[in-house]
Amino acid sequence: MPEQTFLMIKPDGVKRRLVGDILIKLEKKGLKLAAMKMLQITKELAEIHYQEHREKEFYEELIKFITSGPVVAIVLEGKGIVELIRNFAGKTNPKEAECGTIRGDYAVDITQNVVHTSDSIANAKREINNFFEKAEIIRK
Ligand code: PPS
Repeated sequence: MPEQTFLMIKPDGVKRRLVGDILIKLEKKGLKLAAMKMLQITKELAEIHYQEHREKEFYEELIKFITSGPVVAIVLEGKGIVELIRNFAGKTNPKEAECGTIRGDYAVDITQNVVHTSDSIANAKREINNFFEKAEIIRK
């Protein structure tokens, strides 16, 4: 099974009409899309997705933000894809993210930072399972 990762365009990215720009960057880089859909995250799904942050002081803000509007959920596939997409997104805090990265180019706020990306292969598997049915992931 090839390595997969989960990338989500957050509500700010959708509201600001950045979906097209981000998809162009992914495709021009030559990355392989294995699944993609737009959805409104429920409070239940948000709490599962961000379970590792539930003790953090920003948790409530995070849940409120991620359920505030539709998101685009994407599965990407390829060798080393988890690390590649982390680098592609840039540092979590956009103020530290390098130019050329998604957060470096499109964001200034640590909550409204346009994209979420899996931080490990294990979390990628967990997050993909939370958001997608097996049949929704294209294998070819
Ligand atoms: S940390 O600080 O190690 O927990 O950060 P990280 O694991 O990279 O991701 C934290 C996610 O929470 C969002 N968020 C914030 N992080 C830090 N500080 C504040 N105030 C904050 N508010 C929200 C941040 O955008 C990360 O979301 P994801 O979706 O994982 O990128």
